[in-house]
Amino acid sequence: MTFLSKTLSRVKPSPTIAVTTLAGELKAAGKDVIGLGAGEPDFNTPENIKAAGIAAIEAGKTKYTAPDGIPELKAAICAKFERENGLRYTPQQVSVGTGGKQILYNALMATLNPGDEVVIPAPYWVSYPDMVLLAGGTPVIAAATLENSFKLTPEQLEAAITPKTKWLIFNSPSNPTGAGYSRKELKALTDVLMRHPHVWVMTDDMYEHLAYDGFEFCTPAQVEPALYERTLTCNGVSKAYAMTGWRIGYAAGPVELIAAMRKIQSQSTSNPCSISQWAAVEALNGPQDFLSKNNVVFKRRRDLVVSMLSEIDGITCPVPEGAFYVYPSIAGLIGKTTPDGTVIEDDETFSRALLEDTGVAVVFGAAFGLSPNFRVSYATSDEALKTACERIQDFCAKLT
Ligand SMILES: Cc1ncc(COP(=O)(O)O)c(C=O)c1O
Repeated sequence: MTFLSKTLSRVKPSPTIAVTTLAGELKAAGKDVIGLGAGEPDFNTPENIKAAGIAAIEAGKTKYTAPDGIPELKAAICAKFERENGLRYTPQQVSVGTGGKQILYNALMATLNPGDEVVIPAPYWVSYPDMVLLAGGTPVIAAATLENSFKLTPEQLEAAITPKTKWLIFNSPSNPTGAGYSRKELKALTDVLMRHPHVWVMTDDMYEHLAYDGFEFCTPAQVEPALYERTLTCNGVSKAYAMTGWRIGYAAGPVELIAAMRKIQSQSTSNPCSISQWAAVEALNGPQDFLSKNNVVFKRRRDLVVSMLSEIDGITCPVPEGAFYVYPSIAGLIGKTTPDGTVIEDDETFSRALLEDTGVAVVFGAAFGLSPNFRVSYATSDEALKTACERIQDFCAKLT
């Protein structure tokens, strides 16, 4: 349609939402569907956080706020960064947005000019390349490998950087692989960035608290303090605090960048929901003990899924450090045929045939920039995961 903008033709709709929609349609048509596509915890928002939201409504905190966050939330975010990451920020260095997604989008809109390049390690969260395109920039994909546990090597980062590079988007633990960079692995990447002073780093630490087996989370400005001046440290309450619907994300970085992001937000959405901001204050300042309790459950589910998928001939399933995803390779199944004659040509045909045949909804790897793989979100009940993995096992056993 010629009425629509040219920019829009450069981006594609979110494939994860497409899978969720297709699964919903099949369910509505009466099929027994198990959705392993959604990227959100199945836990409820903790009671104290819900109560803070209710109290905010009752206290009439239901009006416009400062465009990028109430002082109380900015103070809680500064305290969080100092307490958990050893990073000191002032409230002027903090921006609060409508979810982590808006924060990342604001930052890209505030900084990209046509021709500017953004290095995105693959497998990547589906929205990064499209947000870069919407902001007028050029995504440069640097593909990691299964052999290196889906982590970018310093050599791969070095090769992706050009004089036009503006940002590296870094995400650990990762959506979709769950891969988490150790301090040493991250330092090797920040050493590369130290040799390229024109490159900034946008670190998406959304899954910081979802880490297992004693994995030590670290973030670029913490590992390399000299990068502080060119780092935007992004985070949010959506995943760890089971608050996806409340829509609160935040970032801290240089004052000038934060002011530019505020300008964009003030002319688009204005402030994030006032009630959600008060709930987020409680999330960050309140008790944190449920995080480790939830992680016991997530780790058990991760181990269940990894062990059941690893039993399948043709599937390789690395054990990720964090988040709530696994990203198995189906390289050993490519070229095989389903009983009804569908040839598994790639991960998209695999995922579609799996959904139609067994009702198990996963997201195909091409959506995340690395094939042939699929992403399983294990943020669902143990029973559902066990049944889903049994169905995947049966489906694969019938391939010839
Ligand atoms: C890596 C990553 N970053 C950011 C987000 C966005 O989070 P929010 O729901 O706070 O916008 C997601 C959500 O799926 C994510 O997986």
